[in-house]
Amino acid sequence: MTQTLTLRRPDDWHLHLRDGAMLKAVLPETARHFGRAIIMPNLVPPVVTSADAVAYRERIMAALPEGATFQPLMTLYLTEHTQAADVRAAAESGLIRAVKLYPAGATTNSHGGVRDLEKVRPVLEMMAEIGLPLCIHGEVTTPEVDIFDREAVFIDTVLDPLRRATPGLRVVMEHITTAQGVAYARSASDLAATITTHHLVINRNHILVGGIKPHYYCLPVAKREEHRLALREAATSGEATFFLGTDSAPHMDALKEHACGCAGCFTATNTMSILAEVFEQDGALDRLEAFTSLNGPAFYRLPVNEDTIALTKGEAVSYPSKIDTGEGMVTVFDPGFPLHWRVA
Ligand code: NCD
Ligand code: ZN
Repeated sequence: MTQTLTLRRPDDWHLHLRDGAMLKAVLPETARHFGRAIIMPNLVPPVVTSADAVAYRERIMAALPEGATFQPLMTLYLTEHTQAADVRAAAESGLIRAVKLYPAGATTNSHGGVRDLEKVRPVLEMMAEIGLPLCIHGEVTTPEVDIFDREAVFIDTVLDPLRRATPGLRVVMEHITTAQGVAYARSASDLAATITTHHLVINRNHILVGGIKPHYYCLPVAKREEHRLALREAATSGEATFFLGTDSAPHMDALKEHACGCAGCFTATNTMSILAEVFEQDGALDRLEAFTSLNGPAFYRLPVNEDTIALTKGEAVSYPSKIDTGEGMVTVFDPGFPLHWRVA
């Protein structure tokens, strides 16, 4: 007997599509299953102004496969020079759905990010006033702080003071990786958190035991097993606070398998199969739809997708292990266990 699961079409609330040949190669992988995605603005150079977002949106639309109905939800990359009026107009016209805060130096292409939060105060106050979400990469960049502690330290020393100083600011804690992240996200209703596919599957042993595994290296870096279990509990809880943001972050293999390898796991291709397996393992298949398709739109104040997808369970599904961009290969995330759910 085949088992079928029908879900509202899912959305991805944190996605890297890149540009050029990479965009062309990875966009179909997301557009195949997802209705919409929040598009990260960390291009080189970043998507800073509304004019940049218009141009990037056009490049994404031009790269979409024939007949695809996928909608990119654009974001702006917050800098110390961002103009509140530009952001407000972009939000009010529906061009952008969020602003992204990268602490300077926290991750890939974040050197133009924010060093002094006081410099962006007028933008944050305006965002609080109009209810525009701020997506935060929540890691401190201080060299003294251990990389495995950077999220927890960020919550205490940056995020909590920032929220207290800006009442009403709606914040998405992006790609949380710790029990502290889970607990803080639960602490207020103007907060939400995205959780990636890969952080539900791997802990730091996957990266480091038995040889270094560059395709499991991403930022924030995967933590201890107890943290992975906290993320599993949160994602499968059905609570409105938590929703999917894959953080699918493609880099060419030559740059991952390198003496100074780039951070990012590419999960767009097999995310829905992996999530169905994970939720089934935890006896929570009935809560998968909340995580992938309902909680995100609710926080972003958007309607849920009108159509549905069907997942069927059967023989193990195989996915390509790599995607060819024409300018290099990109390795698809390997969850390390067989996948039985396929999107029909
Ligand atoms: C992302 C990237 O490559 O753009 N990398 C990652 O490891 N997640 C940046 C990010 O989201 O931190
Ligand atoms: Zn990301």
